[in-house]
Amino acid sequence: MAKMWAGVTAGITDPTADEFNSSIGFDRRMVRQDIRGSMAHAAMLGAKGIISPAEAEQLGDGLAAILEDLESGALAIDFGCEDIHMFVEQELTRRLGEVGKKLHTARSRNDQVALDLRMYLRDECKELHDLLEALIKTLTALAGEHKESIMPGYTHLQRAQPVSFGHYMMAYVMMLLRDRERLSDTVKRMDVSPIGCCALAGTTYDTDRRMEAELLGFSRIALNSMDGVSDRDFCLELMSTLSILMMHLSRLAEELILWASWEFQFIQLSDAYTTGSSIMPQKRNADMAELVRGKTGRVYGDLMGLLTTLKGLPLAYNKDMQEDKECVFDACDTVKLCLRVLTPMLSGMTVRTDNMLRAAQTGFINATDLADYLVRKGLPFRSAYKLSGQIVAKCMAEGQVLETLPLEAYQSYSPLFEEDLYAQIDLRTCMEKRSSEGGTSVASVEAQIAYVKEVLGYDENLH
Ligand code: ARG
Repeated sequence: MAKMWAGVTAGITDPTADEFNSSIGFDRRMVRQDIRGSMAHAAMLGAKGIISPAEAEQLGDGLAAILEDLESGALAIDFGCEDIHMFVEQELTRRLGEVGKKLHTARSRNDQVALDLRMYLRDECKELHDLLEALIKTLTALAGEHKESIMPGYTHLQRAQPVSFGHYMMAYVMMLLRDRERLSDTVKRMDVSPIGCCALAGTTYDTDRRMEAELLGFSRIALNSMDGVSDRDFCLELMSTLSILMMHLSRLAEELILWASWEFQFIQLSDAYTTGSSIMPQKRNADMAELVRGKTGRVYGDLMGLLTTLKGLPLAYNKDMQEDKECVFDACDTVKLCLRVLTPMLSGMTVRTDNMLRAAQTGFINATDLADYLVRKGLPFRSAYKLSGQIVAKCMAEGQVLETLPLEAYQSYSPLFEEDLYAQIDLRTCMEKRSSEGGTSVASVEAQIAYVKEVLGYDENLH
C-alpha cells in the first residue's frame, strides 16, 4: 500500500527500508499523549474557524473513541504504520472518512512528535519524582532509627572518625534532594509547547498556539519555530539529571555490596534481595545492588548516544532525531526500575549495629579526639597530632586500643593527660561532640531530618 505521504514519490518503499525507517515499535508508548495532543489541536482548529465546530467535535469524539478502544483492547496498534502519529491519523480517517483527513491541518509530524515527547516525558518525570521521594523517605526513616548507631566513617576506605549510621544515610538523602531539585528544574524547560511550529517555519493559518498549549497544560510556547521542532535539550537535560542520580544510586549500591560482604557484615540484605550461587551454597549475593551499579553505565550511555546524535545536525528536523526516543525511554525505564528495587531493599535490610560498633572500636578512629584533648589543654595542634601519632603507634605495637592504655603510659608522653581523658576518647562522646552544623551528632542528624521533612512537606507521625 502506498504511504500516507505518497506525493512526488510513489510512496512505496523497500520492506527492509520500511522496517529501518519505522519507529512505531517504540513510539507507540506515546499513543495517549499523541491522542490528547490531537484532541487539543482539533479543538483549536474549530475555535479558530479553520475547520467547522461540528468537524472539530467529530474529530474530538473520534479520537476519544480510539483511545477508549485501545485501552479496552478492542483496537490493536497496526505495526505496519511508520509511526504512532500515522497510526492514529490512519485509524481516525478509517473511522470518520473525509473529516479525519482534516486533523493534520496547520501542523506537521515534526512539531507533533516534539509535543508528544515533551508530554510523555513530563508524565515520566512525575513518576520519577514520586519514586525518588519514596527512596528519600526510606533513607530518612533509617537515619531516624540509627542516629545513635556508631560506625566507622572512612576516608580512602580507611577508618577515619566515628559517625552514626543515621548521619551516613542522610549524606545520601542530601544527594537525592539535589537530584529531586534537578528533576523539577528539568521539568521547567520541558514545559514549553512546540505545537504550531509546524514543519519548521510556522504556518499561514490563523492558529492559536497559546490556546493549544494551555489546553495541554503547558505554561509556555516555543518562540522560534525552527528551534521548536529541533530542540531536544529537554531529553538531554533529563538524561543528565538521571545520570547524576544513577551515579548516586550506584555509590549507595556499592556501599551496600561492601557492607553485605563477609569482611564488613554491617548489613544483611533480606532474602528477597539476595541470590544464591548455583554451586556455592553459602553465598548471599547482592545481585540487585550490583545491577543498580551496573545499569548506571547504561544510563550514561543513553545520554552520550543522544548527545552524539545531535551534535552535527543542521536545522531543523532531521530523521536522526527519531533516535532520541529509545535512549530517553531506556534511561527512564532503567532509573524507575532501580528506584523500585532499591527502596524496599533498604527498608527490609538488617542493620548490624553490633558489627558496626565493633569495627568502630578498632582502627583508632578516636585518635583525632586524643589530639583535640591535648589542644584543649594548651598544646598547639601540630604538636598534639604528633604526640597522638606516637601513642597510636605504641598501642598498635602492643595490640592495645586508646581506651585501654593506662594513664601512666599516657603521662609518660605528656603531663597534660589526666583521668578525664577517657571520657573524651569514648566513641559516643567523640560522635556527640561533632555537633557543628551538618556534623554527626544526634542533634545535627535530627536537624537534617527535620529539614528533609520540611522540604518534602511530610510528617511520618501523621501517616
Ligand atoms: N517518527 C518520527 C520521529 O520520531 C516522526 C517525525 C517524522 N517527521 C518527518 N518529517 N519524517 O522523529
